[in-house]
Formats: sequence, structure tokens, C-alpha cells
Amino acid sequence: MAADTAPEPLTQAPKQKLNGQHLPGPTVNGQPTVATLLNPDELASSPLLDSLGTMINAAFTAGHSTKNILGGTKRLNQPSDLPVQIGSSPGTFTVLVTDAHESNPRVLGTVSAKPYSVPLDIARNGTKKSAFLRLVAPTRRAPRAPVVELWELKFLAVDPSLQRQGLAVFLLDLAEAEVRRRSEAKRSVDVEPGTDVELVMVLTTIDELVGPFYMRRGYELDYKSFQDIGYMGTEVGFTIAHYSKLLN
Ligand SMILES: CC(C)(COP(=O)(O)OP(=O)(O)OC[C@H]1O[C@@H](n2cnc3c(N)ncnc32)[C@H](O)[C@@H]1OP(=O)(O)O)[C@@H](O)C(=O)NCCC(=O)NCCS
Repeated sequence: MAADTAPEPLTQAPKQKLNGQHLPGPTVNGQPTVATLLNPDELASSPLLDSLGTMINAAFTAGHSTKNILGGTKRLNQPSDLPVQIGSSPGTFTVLVTDAHESNPRVLGTVSAKPYSVPLDIARNGTKKSAFLRLVAPTRRAPRAPVVELWELKFLAVDPSLQRQGLAVFLLDLAEAEVRRRSEAKRSVDVEPGTDVELVMVLTTIDELVGPFYMRRGYELDYKSFQDIGYMGTEVGFTIAHYSKLLN
């Protein structure tokens, strides 16, 4: 009888269907890759969230250990912290580069970007003390245009075994292009035609580790603060730097 029939054992692993918009990725270790753009909901429900979180922690731990900075600090306590930290404000997106295996893709690199506004409540009352939080808009130059649109780059990370092959440059270029595209699409709806808009990407990084990488890609320093030994348990001092780049 049908009710007594045991379920058929699975003969193969279920395919991990990756939601989102797929684009060709760069060649990594001579192999093709796929870049996928995810919105916040797709990220939160992605079957790759665990491996993404593991890769991000491995990348940051490897990077920090090169100069013994923040040795024992995990970037994410758990993978589900990632969608929470990135948030879901309209326009936010995450890019995953995976290898091209259909049934079991592996995350090789990632970046996210989100619309940024200065957290004024925090800036005013000072309830949040983390120096990693940017508290001021880019200030090194007067705005060129009456409207300034700010976006923030987050969680650029590449699997430590696959670094120095151009994957981060690919991710950064793609994130900047996607921000330009989203901004232009939004502008045609939100802003009076003919209004000049200054489009700016901001980011926060540990200067000793990644500052030069961003500077070579056109980012300029807005402000920085030196954190002494002991900050977040670090065994050496390091500099938290806030950069920005004009995207148009
Ligand atoms: C920072 C990080 C994302 C860079 O990733 P990556 O994939 O190694 O970066 P790329 O390969 O695109 O570029 C890195 C360097 O390698 C160089 N490079 C690229 N392809 C190369 C190749 N085939 N051979 C040798 N060098 C190469 C690039 O020119 C670049 O040099 P530069 O920094 O002197 O300009 C990576 O080190 C990482 O994940 N770090 C930990 C996380 C982190 O700190 N993220 C930043 C948060 S703000």
C-alpha cells in the first residue's frame, strides 16, 4: 500500500538553485566563474550563506594575521549576521563570485553595496563607540553638485587561496558599475530632470592592510583614527580609515 511505502532514498545531492541575476565572472585558476547579483531577501535565503560566511571569516582572518591585527576577532559571529549587517534598504545588493559547478557552487569572493546616510542619531548622542562606523559624509572637497548621493561598499572579500588573481578588482569594478546603473535608474524617477548629482562611494577599512589597494583604485582618504594596542583585543595598534571615491 502506498501509505507503507518508505520514501525513496536520495541518489544525488539536491541542486542548489542560486537565485539572482547571473553574469560571467573572471577566470580564476584557469577556470570560468559566475558572478551573481543578489538582493537582500535573496541573500538571506541563499543556500550559499553558510559557505559565504565561512569564506568571509577566512579572508578577514588571513588578512588580519599578516600584520597580527585583530588576531582573535571573527568578522562574523555567524553567517546569518551578514544579511543583518548589510541591511535591506532599497537598492542594496550583494555580488557572489562562485565557481561554475551547477550542483554545488563554491563562493570564491564577494562584495556588497548599500545606500549610505550618516547615522546622525549615533553621531549626535554618541551611543555607538565603534571607530569602524563612519560618522561623517566625505568632507575633503566641497560638493560639485546640489544633490550628493552616497553609497557604502561593504564586505569585499576573496578566498585566501585565490587572492592576487584580480578577483577583488573585478568585484570592485562590478559594484561601482552597478551603483552607477542603480543610481541612474533611480534618478530618472526621483530627481528633477537636469539636476546635477554627485555620486560617491564610501568605505571603511584597516589602512595598514587594504588602504593602498583602494588608493590605487581612485579612493581618497576622508579621515582616519589610530586604535591603540588593546582595542578589540588587538595585540598591535592599527588605523581605521574612511575613504571615498567620486563615481561620476
Ligand atoms: C583585499 C582583498 C579583497 C584583495 O583580494 P584579491 O583578489 O587578492 O585582490 P586582487 O587580486 O584583485 O588585487 C590585489 C592585488 O593583486 C594584484 N594582482 C591582481 N592580479 C594579479 C596577478 N595575476 N598576479 C599578481 N598580482 C596580481 C593587483 O594588482 C593588486 O595589487 P595592488 O593591491 O598592489 O594594487 C583580499 O586580500 C581580502 O579578502 N582581504 C581580507 C578582507 C578585507 O580586508 N577586505 C577589505 C575590507 S574593507
